[in-house]
Amino acid sequence: MYSEKVMDHFTNPRNVGEIEDASGVGTVGNAKCGDIMRIYLDVDEDTKVIKDCKFKTFGCGAAVATSSMATEMVMGKTIYEALQVTNKAVMEALDGLPPVKVHCSLLAEEAIHAALWDYAQKHNIEIEGLKPPKADINDEE
Ligand code: FES
Repeated sequence: MYSEKVMDHFTNPRNVGEIEDASGVGTVGNAKCGDIMRIYLDVDEDTKVIKDCKFKTFGCGAAVATSSMATEMVMGKTIYEALQVTNKAVMEALDGLPPVKVHCSLLAEEAIHAALWDYAQKHNIEIEGLKPPKADINDEE
């Protein structure tokens, strides 16, 4: 049912954790299952390159695997390039997900977007094409 890559990222997830004093944090919930994802970004102020990215989730295995892959894919990209890391691109990089699990991959994309939004708000910049998060629940702690 799951590809080898999904199993690899699920059993050995990359970049789990928090970043203290992160430059951007995004927390989103999955409307379908109620699971939660938080992404932390550490962005270089001058180059706008994402130097570090970590995630924490109360989510299923597919959410863990997609977030693990997504954090790897945004690392080293600029905040503008990171927008191209869509859930579709992440799923392709994982050799696909079962159809019932596609909604789980949205958590990673939405949390990255929410973290980019948080960064843009804090630094008073605009990231072209970035929409405000539907449900950033950063404040609901
Ligand atoms: Fe909730 Fe997968 S079932 S994120």
